[in-house]
Amino acid sequence: MFTPSGEWVIIFKHKVITGYLKSMGFRVLLCLLVAGFLPMLAIKQGIMRTYTTRAVAVRSTEVQNQCKILSNQLISSNYMRNRNSQLVAGELEQLANLYDGRILIIDQDFRIIKDTYELEENKIMVAEEVVKCFKGETTSHLAENRFIEITVPIQDTDSKVITGVILISVSTDSIRDNREYLEHNANMVLTGLAVLLVTASIFCSYILVRPVRNMGEYLERFSMGHDDEDMDIASYTETKKISQAFNRTITQMRVLDASRQEFVSNVSHELKTPLTSMKVLADSLLVQEDVPTELYKEFMGDIAEEIERENKIITDLLSLVKLDKKVAELNIEQANINDLLELILKRLRPIAARKNIEVVLESFRSVTAAVDSVKLTLAITNLVENAIKYNRENGWVHVSLDADHKFFYVKVMDSGIGIPEESRQQIFERFYRVDKSHSNEIDGTGLGLAITKSAILLHRGAIKVSSVLGEGTTFSVRIPLNYTS
Ligand SMILES: Nc1ncnc2c1ncn2[C@@H]1O[C@H](COP(=O)(O)OP(=O)(O)OP(=O)(O)O)[C@@H](O)[C@H]1O
Ligand SMILES: [Mg+2]
Repeated sequence: MFTPSGEWVIIFKHKVITGYLKSMGFRVLLCLLVAGFLPMLAIKQGIMRTYTTRAVAVRSTEVQNQCKILSNQLISSNYMRNRNSQLVAGELEQLANLYDGRILIIDQDFRIIKDTYELEENKIMVAEEVVKCFKGETTSHLAENRFIEITVPIQDTDSKVITGVILISVSTDSIRDNREYLEHNANMVLTGLAVLLVTASIFCSYILVRPVRNMGEYLERFSMGHDDEDMDIASYTETKKISQAFNRTITQMRVLDASRQEFVSNVSHELKTPLTSMKVLADSLLVQEDVPTELYKEFMGDIAEEIERENKIITDLLSLVKLDKKVAELNIEQANINDLLELILKRLRPIAARKNIEVVLESFRSVTAAVDSVKLTLAITNLVENAIKYNRENGWVHVSLDADHKFFYVKVMDSGIGIPEESRQQIFERFYRVDKSHSNEIDGTGLGLAITKSAILLHRGAIKVSSVLGEGTTFSVRIPLNYTS
């Protein structure tokens, strides 16, 4: 029975153990151990097997040679007919003792005529080896892993007649003893090597896995909020690459985060400004008593203007959000670009007329392209609006349209105040306005060009600007005739 805390301890231990078993360190350790142990065991087994085979072969040859000598003595003493030779009997005993074995002499009738154990004499023996031996074949095999059984024919060297068979069983106890001794020593060496191997493997797996562990620790710290230091784990080429890729991603995220924060603070600021003005205007009306109707009207007019301004900012922001979406829905259809530009200029001419600015459209050819008319109109309108807004009295705005087989080109040129070189990269950023002082005079929120650029990029197009300060600015737009998603 477990107490609740006892159960927790067991669950915790279980988690720790399974966690370790799944860890990279354990896997590396396991690989090293397997790679080290298996060859060692295989080598040991190979040596033991070779030793046994070799020892049995040497013993067999040795015994066979002795038996051949014995066979000659048996022939010369005519032992098969006359078994009284003391010399041969002595030889047989000596040989049997020497190899700690037993010798049987079998005659042509398969009868055992001599058994050094004196147990089977006069019995018949029709063993397979004996039969083979009578055909002139010397045999040798290991029986029950304890005896080598060898048969040697008793053959007259001159007539080649086989008159009998010597069957000798030789004990392999001494071979087994030697093998056990060898195995014992091998096991001692193996144990020593195993201890060394385990120690070396633990050390190596620790060293090999250390960079990955460092990476984990870094990420742990990073996720806890310590995100100001870069990842720098250059132990392996792989970890170096991971570190670099991680640092690159983090840098991009930091830039994104900074621009998001800036955007949010800009939005808040821009939205607050008209509200503050309205509050001031409304308050000043409230604190005064008997306010003349004219002042009321004037202030209400100002409040209406501020509402209009707030409305424009919100509309622009909504346009940007829509265009910012990764897959903003484009409503692509074939449109006549000449007509589209004509319509834009027609709408803007009254505003240009206030400063007596001449607005001209120059079409080099008739262009039909697959575009989202609403978004493209928004983009070009912003450009022409700027060309009018940042222009001088009695200035001009030239809009031109041209095309080749792949793209159409719209240029918006003006005779305005120009854009300083250092600002040309930034004018497409959200809320960026070149000169705050002249910006105060000219109405705007700095969102127009950001909207224009997003709309053009959505059409897989491009926009660039060239300008001479005090003389004028040219925005060049290039858009494919056929939209490809
Ligand atoms: N044709 C131009 N000539 C001179 N300066 C320009 C011209 N077009 C843009 N600019 C500069 O680039 C800035 C960014 O233009 P953008 O159209 O994004 O904002 P805006 O005109 O200030 O405001 P909005 O268009 O959102 O009402 C402008 O404030 C202006 O300083
Ligand atoms: Mg603008």
